[in-house]
Amino acid sequence: MVLLDGKKISNDIKDEITEEVKKMKANGEKVPHLAAVIVGNDGASLTYVGSKVRACERVGFESTMVRMSNTTSEVELLDKIHELNDNDDIDGFIIQLPLPKQIDTQRVLMAVNPDKDVDGFHPTNFGKMALDMSTFIPATPFGILELLERYGVETRGKHTVVIGRSHIVGRPMSILMGRKGFPGNSTVTLTHSQTKNINQITSQADIIISALGVPGFLKAEMVKDDVVIIDVGITRVPDETKTKGYYITGDVDFENVSKKASYITPVPGGVGPMTIAMLLKNTLLARENKFRK
Ligand code: GUN
Repeated sequence: MVLLDGKKISNDIKDEITEEVKKMKANGEKVPHLAAVIVGNDGASLTYVGSKVRACERVGFESTMVRMSNTTSEVELLDKIHELNDNDDIDGFIIQLPLPKQIDTQRVLMAVNPDKDVDGFHPTNFGKMALDMSTFIPATPFGILELLERYGVETRGKHTVVIGRSHIVGRPMSILMGRKGFPGNSTVTLTHSQTKNINQITSQADIIISALGVPGFLKAEMVKDDVVIIDVGITRVPDETKTKGYYITGDVDFENVSKKASYITPVPGGVGPMTIAMLLKNTLLARENKFRK
């Protein structure tokens, strides 16, 4: 069994980006600038955005965190997005999800200038991705592709089963794994809450990508020998004995599933750190105007 070490690979990627930024500085060019908008006080979202800002510092990017209150209206958020769209100093920005109930997420994401959409959530970018055109790929799926590529995990002709159809992970992942090229060329099954006999489907999978958010959902008896496991679940389980008051766990019963797997991501230290590294990568691509016509 090989551990897909997202912590190590994400550090390699950050080192590569740091080198690029040094070259930009040496040439007197503007360094990439990422902005992150966070609405409300959700603990996990604040932690993620804090990590994104720290990662910017580490690679030499500029960063701006925009905090807005929990009672922010959709119009106020749209105004902020227009401001960021118009600000030439900002190369890319993200709206941290989830948003409070009074705000229509899809309307907000559609207001982001696709050239600055480093999350790849705008329908233009999502459509381009589905049509094999080069564009921003959402950071978590992009991170999974990068892990598979850097470890040389064979995906061609394999049966990939994706669990969960979220717009952020499951849906894009199901598209990307079926695209031509590497990683890709898989035969993909997208499973979700309405899927019947999921055990039967997972037991036929060569590769399982689980983005469900249910701790310990995927058990050893649901997978075959030599399966490749990508665990995208990040659930905070309350635990008084921990300093933070919780511990982080994935969708996979790691102890037992890892005994059957050929490759597996740990949680934490697997997909999570890759997401941030790929957001930085997308910001670098935005700075270089890689996808502008
Ligand atoms: N919430 C959970 N994952 C993500 C992500 O990748 N981007 C944004 N903007 N919000 C998220």
